[in-house]
Amino acid sequence: PPAGGMGTEASSIGQRRSSLHGHWSSRAAFILAVTGSAVGLGNIWKFPYITGENGGGAFVLLYLGCVFAVGMPILVSEVLLGRRGRRNPIATMAILGQEEGGSRHWRLVGTMGVITGLLILSFYSVIAGWSLAYALKSAVGSFAGTDARSAAIEFFTFTGNWKALLAWHAVFMAMTVFVVAAGVQHGLERAVRVLMPLLVVMLLVLVAYSARYGAFEETLVYLFKPDFSELSGESMLIALGHCFFTLSIGMGVVMAYGAYLPEGTSIAASSLTVVLADTVIALLAGMAVFPLVFGNGLNPAEGPGLVFETLPIAFGQLPAGSVFGTVFFLLLTFAAWTSAIGLLEPAVAWIVERHQRSRVVGALVVGGLTWLMGLATVLSFNVLSDLRFGRGTLFQNIDFLASNILLPASALLITVFAGWIMCRNSSSEELAMGSGLLYKGWRLLSRVVAPLAIIVIAFRAVGVI
Ligand code: PHE
Repeated sequence: PPAGGMGTEASSIGQRRSSLHGHWSSRAAFILAVTGSAVGLGNIWKFPYITGENGGGAFVLLYLGCVFAVGMPILVSEVLLGRRGRRNPIATMAILGQEEGGSRHWRLVGTMGVITGLLILSFYSVIAGWSLAYALKSAVGSFAGTDARSAAIEFFTFTGNWKALLAWHAVFMAMTVFVVAAGVQHGLERAVRVLMPLLVVMLLVLVAYSARYGAFEETLVYLFKPDFSELSGESMLIALGHCFFTLSIGMGVVMAYGAYLPEGTSIAASSLTVVLADTVIALLAGMAVFPLVFGNGLNPAEGPGLVFETLPIAFGQLPAGSVFGTVFFLLLTFAAWTSAIGLLEPAVAWIVERHQRSRVVGALVVGGLTWLMGLATVLSFNVLSDLRFGRGTLFQNIDFLASNILLPASALLITVFAGWIMCRNSSSEELAMGSGLLYKGWRLLSRVVAPLAIIVIAFRAVGVI
């Protein structure tokens, strides 16, 4: 029995806590949900352009190294904390902090994660709104015959219209609120069960289309033949930062999802499946995007505009381009949708548990607030585009604060907590790996390798190194 009279928060097997929001109906549902959260704008919009900017194959290898050595152990830690705590991330960290480390102040880690998640959602939803708008534009044939100049003008005019951006952002937030309000099994699980298979099919269709009409061989060489001379020191940091973002680590999302994980499900095996799926999907996205880029003589290192400014040119020239363009932007929207529900869930779970409100009220309040926060991103592309400080526009500063400072900081605290503060018995009981080689490997990675890697990126990000 737990020491110190904490009988009500008992944690030994047999009297474990249970979630207040129900559970995933199966291990597969959990894997789909976490994969849904992991696969998003990061895979389809960001991964191709950062690979393009960092020289292709060598960067892909670097990224794979980061994902398996740093991302994966932290993912495991976050799920394990979530399932052990069985509450929203803030309460989970408070409970575990007290049980394992003697201090409820660890809840601040949860708080930081939840806030970071909402900050990210505030701009994520704006970009996802662009994607919705582009799906519609493509469907009505507005990309037909587009060239580089008209695509750039189109993008500039579109992002210049703040009312349109705000409206699309509202539509996307409403879709997200709708799913989260419906609950774990009826909302989240149902959405990922439909959207994830659809997403995979759409992606495969696009890869086939790109292979047929684009420069596929050139793409394979570009993605898989490493040329290390292309790598800069900066690439390492970009790879590491992206590995947190793409796996959704450090924001309490995975912790919240872990809280709904049924007992007896292997955390390590589920996490490995998620990491593999996320990686394969990012590579497939590269195989869908780059053949069109190369085949049409476009620049792979175009940067953030790669899918919005470059792809319409390719779709504008190719047979049935408006159909496949629509499929592409819908794919991007769906991927973003299953990620956005994960970003909203922790805060909603907190409202439900802490303030005893219904999920509907919680989702509406948090969703509304996040929508308002998104105004900062929306205005950064038009009315306030001249307002520059720190890292650039308001949007760039929010992105930097959330992705490069808060996210690594909470990922660091999570891995330190799971590796150093939590007692061995608790983590090995939760992971059910005994004390064998696998368990030792996880401990080494989460105690030493992951924290060191994060400290390096954080220092680099603020310019200390
Ligand atoms: N992993 C998502 C992506 O790659 C982004 C995300 C981050 C989603 C954090 C949820 C939480 O786009």
